[in-house]
Amino acid sequence: MARLQIEAVSKKFDAEYAVREVSLDIADGEFMVLLGPSGCGKSTLLRMIAGLEEPSSGRILVGDVDVTDAAPQRRDLAMVFQSYALYPHLSVARNIGFPLRARRRPKAEIAQRVAEVSATLEISALLERRPVALSGGQRQRVALARAMVRDPGAFLMDEPLSNLDAKLRSATRAELIALHDRLGATFLYVTHDQVEAMTMATRIALLNEGRIEQCGTPEELYDHPRSTFVAGFLGSPPMNLFPAVVTASDGHMTVMADGIDAALDIAEDSGDATAVVAGIRPERLRIDDTSTDVRGRVRMVENLGSEELVHLESGLCIRAPRPAGVRAGEDIACRVDPADIHLFDPDTGLRLTWQPTRSDAEPAMDAAAISVP
Ligand SMILES: Nc1ncnc2c1ncn2[C@@H]1O[C@H](COP(=O)(O)OP(=O)(O)O)[C@@H](O)[C@H]1O
Ligand SMILES: [Mg+2]
Repeated sequence: MARLQIEAVSKKFDAEYAVREVSLDIADGEFMVLLGPSGCGKSTLLRMIAGLEEPSSGRILVGDVDVTDAAPQRRDLAMVFQSYALYPHLSVARNIGFPLRARRRPKAEIAQRVAEVSATLEISALLERRPVALSGGQRQRVALARAMVRDPGAFLMDEPLSNLDAKLRSATRAELIALHDRLGATFLYVTHDQVEAMTMATRIALLNEGRIEQCGTPEELYDHPRSTFVAGFLGSPPMNLFPAVVTASDGHMTVMADGIDAALDIAEDSGDATAVVAGIRPERLRIDDTSTDVRGRVRMVENLGSEELVHLESGLCIRAPRPAGVRAGEDIACRVDPADIHLFDPDTGLRLTWQPTRSDAEPAMDAAAISVP
């Protein structure tokens, strides 16, 4: 098993960068998910690691060995594609054994390995079939088995579940987690699906236009998004993001916007009003008549079965257990915990850290000084 190091890797197609200066250090045994919208460079990055695409600049190391210029078959990696890429004219057994035959391993060893991985993935009964006689989920497992048969240093997977229906996708997610636990192997997994990333990853690297926007545990990205892009990408529905003003009075800072006047729990005496982008997750708004934090008129209520989405005319969305007990046209109030309010720089979109410090030299600036981490 192997550590993967990606050092300042870029890829240019003609004049356009598909991947820009991406650095990632993936520990041995990690389940790293490359997440991002379509076209952000995920597949290009994975293909460069696999050796199917040449980086324009940067270095790639597998197990501490520089493989930047090595041929794909010399990298000790196994790749699983969205399309499965099975050979239609070969049986399942011969598809799975293919990487070992290509390496001229003895027949007995091939038969034994094929039997072992088929048992692990519960496809032993399918070994004599052709791919055309398999369901999508079974083909996906055969593709995985073919990757596993060699015991590679790391698995690279490019949207391997996207051809499966919702129920099978969820079952296969659980299988992949169990498989990772069992193998203890390094997984680098590409997806545009935030649920796959949140449920499977030990760490997520979120890509935006070829750059890493944030890399961390699913909890870090969800609870402490580094930017409005991260805040808006994770969560369904995504975080409410709205222009607001932070002011200080009576020793307390508050965030104010249309229908919002919420305490920030930052003790401060005075300061200029500062424009921000404020963010609150829909599930962190609690409907509560006694509160004055957030007020608004209900535009509509969406029933999701176990929960309801309450949309306010201001554009805010509240996610509450069903029944939320409110109706369209009604005026309601919500409570929000200061810890659940996120503040971002309106120009850069980056998360703000309030640092209320005093400076005699610049009294007008000090009260609400903002630093970007
Ligand atoms: N072979 C190629 N030639 C030119 N442009 C490409 C090529 N492959 C990918 N691109 C471009 O690079 C960008 C990233 O693509 P890709 O890595 O496939 O994104 P993702 O997998 O995140 O959807 C896209 O703008 C895409 O059009
Ligand atoms: Mg892709």
